[in-house]
Amino acid sequence: MAGPAARIVERFTQVHGAVPGVRVFRGPGRVNLIGEHTDYNLGFVLPMALDLACLVACAPGGDGLLRVYSENLGEPRQWPVAALPELKPAGDWGDYVAGVAREVLRSGFVLEPVNLLISSSVPVGSGLSSSAALEVATALALLGDRTMDGLELARLCRRAENDFVGMPCGIMDQYVSVFGREHAAVKIDCRGLKHDTVTLPEGVEILAVNTMVKHELGQSAYRNRVRECGEAVEAIRRRKPAVASLRDVSAAEFEALSAEVPEVPRQRARHVVTENQRVEDFVAASRRGDLPAMGELFVGSHRSLQHDYEVSCEELDFLVDTALALPGVLGARMTGGGFGGCTVSLVRPEAVGQFEERITAAYRRRFQLTPQVFPCRPSAGAGEIS
Ligand code: GLA
Repeated sequence: MAGPAARIVERFTQVHGAVPGVRVFRGPGRVNLIGEHTDYNLGFVLPMALDLACLVACAPGGDGLLRVYSENLGEPRQWPVAALPELKPAGDWGDYVAGVAREVLRSGFVLEPVNLLISSSVPVGSGLSSSAALEVATALALLGDRTMDGLELARLCRRAENDFVGMPCGIMDQYVSVFGREHAAVKIDCRGLKHDTVTLPEGVEILAVNTMVKHELGQSAYRNRVRECGEAVEAIRRRKPAVASLRDVSAAEFEALSAEVPEVPRQRARHVVTENQRVEDFVAASRRGDLPAMGELFVGSHRSLQHDYEVSCEELDFLVDTALALPGVLGARMTGGGFGGCTVSLVRPEAVGQFEERITAAYRRRFQLTPQVFPCRPSAGAGEIS
């Protein structure tokens, strides 16, 4: 074993004691390039898995317990395996682990007592999917040699988040954490649950910039958006009963139907239907190497999230507007659920150094916070590492 795997095994041994055969599983975080708040509307998304990842070391345990230690927080949790089916969420990080373990049991697998140690380089609350990274790595660790189809694995992890953690997220984060590819983004059809890989053209770097804030409002707003999209579908169905989700409505068709939809759900639906189109257009622009068009679609996506979907915030808007005024920036937008977390920018390679310096200085001046800047490299999906 070398590098990060060896380091985490050493820590595992210090925390849980020396045992042979410690295994290490990796679940990557992700950055979503475009297609925001479209996944739970069964539309299109274009995320890529990152080299920022959650590592879970594991080995058989004892005393009937699932024991876990978070290296990032310096905190342990433990549950009797037998109590997992009836467990109630505690409202903290342990819920992701217990929720996944519960779903593994519910899927018919036997869980033996096990010790885990978690160490993640995905910043929590950054909109880079630290939770999906944790869920996927944990599920792989608990399954061990028992194989599960990738899509089933992603769905199991999503159920843990929907049904136990209580966050009504879509499938994007877990899906890309499982199916990520080196050197490519992944275009996911969230209805068909199929994907294509999309290699990005030369001459552009992808940079995530972390606002370092996560506004409380995010959780309830996410729920409200899910509900408002449902209301839009209900209203549209009165005219077009065949519509089952906003995925079934094209941007052009929506114009004709939108008078049927009350104002707020109409705004939300307009974002979703135009965003689905932007994903298709972005993939096409990327395939023909049209960097300016890719940049414009980024900006269109951000404005739609800012004004129609209303999930941006002052810090995100500031980072986007500041980025757009810098040399060599093709486009910028918020990424992830919103209300804080990261922006993602498309930057010409020769402008990257200056971009980092100037955006950091401007953000510090405005908010007295130092934003983290992450160069994003598309990475492989989850698996065991050695
Ligand atoms: C969060 C959710 C995803 C997705 C995004 C918004 O990251 O976990 O399922 O809905 O927000 O695109």
